[in-house]
Amino acid sequence: MPTGKAVVVALLVTGAAGFIGSNLVRHLLQRWPDQRLVSFDLLTYAGHLANLADVIDHPRHRFLQGDIADREAVAAVFDQHDIDGVIHLAAESHVDRSILDPMAFVRTNVAGTVVLLQEATRAWGDRQDVRFHHVSTDEVFGALGSEGFFDEDTRYRPNSPYSASKAASDHFVRAWHETYGLPAVITNCTNNYGPYQFPEKLIPVVITRALAGEKIPVYGRGENVRDWLFVEDHCDAIGLVFERGTAGETYCIGGETEATNLELVRLLLDLVDAARGADPGTSAELIEFVTDRPGHDFRYAMDITRMRSELGWSPSVSLREGLARTVEWYLDHREWMADVQGSGHREFTDTWYEKR
Ligand SMILES: NC(=O)c1ccc[n+]([C@@H]2O[C@H](COP(=O)([O-])OP(=O)(O)OC[C@H]3O[C@@H](n4cnc5c(N)ncnc54)[C@H](O)[C@@H]3O)[C@@H](O)[C@H]2O)c1
Repeated sequence: MPTGKAVVVALLVTGAAGFIGSNLVRHLLQRWPDQRLVSFDLLTYAGHLANLADVIDHPRHRFLQGDIADREAVAAVFDQHDIDGVIHLAAESHVDRSILDPMAFVRTNVAGTVVLLQEATRAWGDRQDVRFHHVSTDEVFGALGSEGFFDEDTRYRPNSPYSASKAASDHFVRAWHETYGLPAVITNCTNNYGPYQFPEKLIPVVITRALAGEKIPVYGRGENVRDWLFVEDHCDAIGLVFERGTAGETYCIGGETEATNLELVRLLLDLVDAARGADPGTSAELIEFVTDRPGHDFRYAMDITRMRSELGWSPSVSLREGLARTVEWYLDHREWMADVQGSGHREFTDTWYEKR
């Protein structure tokens, strides 16, 4: 492991079979060559072993299926694997689903996080050579107008049940640091994209529907602005904060790449057309504007000064390059798509858009 403050031997990654988790496991196995890594994931509709296929049998990696809200199961992981570091990503992560079933978000994102915190403090006592890293979102800060940026001092103002549940989990992590002295760090990151993202989120929805020649739903007039970060840049940032971040602090991570949803979809469709040799503009005809999501935050954008000045991190992949790599990955992984599409999400999205 590179020189840093936190040096752990056995790392627990929760939510490891999801989009960011699976990319992170791959990244960390390379980044920290001496470390054991335990992946823990319930394998909900969003988690797939196919996401970990190439590392599942890695000699320093162990996958365990389990629920972060199940205290006995979590206790067993800490005790049986001598866990001395946690990177916590397990969550219900889809805003639309949180509007239909908020309690599932309270159970996993809030209660599940508290169970992890309880077991970490039980297993670790007041050890300071351990670390609990909570991976969170910029959505806890609410929405921006056309100006300004979120940073570590922005007040919390969650607007959706998803962001409210992530905000609550951030507060519990902070409270565990203040009350029990748990060496914890929190990262709040903007929208991620890249390989292995489940096809319910905007970018894989657009790619998979364009490839199938199906209508591409865009909320409202597509004017909402998001700051996009390529998932490998996020994994690198998580690694750095885990190694060198100061316990008790939060770190804002972003791509410094703002785009309206419509700009993003158009760029993506150009790349899809180019990748499969179709005439430019072919896929753009599939765009269909659908009724906006209730409480849809207008704009997110992140000021990453702390990451840049304290840890020397900044995003390395431009939006165009990252999207091109993502399109290529989806074109090369049609089997993976067929595999994960079978898990019922399509019924959810179709009903959701119909109801709107
Ligand atoms: N995707 C983004 O743009 C983004 C941005 C910032 C922060 N985040 C945060 O990063 C984390 C990962 O996001 P993602 O996009 O990879 O999500 P994801 O939905 O792809 O993955 C979540 C994983 O958690 C697992 N999980 C769900 N409930 C569980 C439970 N009770 N016990 C154990 N495992 C459970 C799922 O099976 C899945 O593998 C989340 O905490 C999310 O809030 C995501």
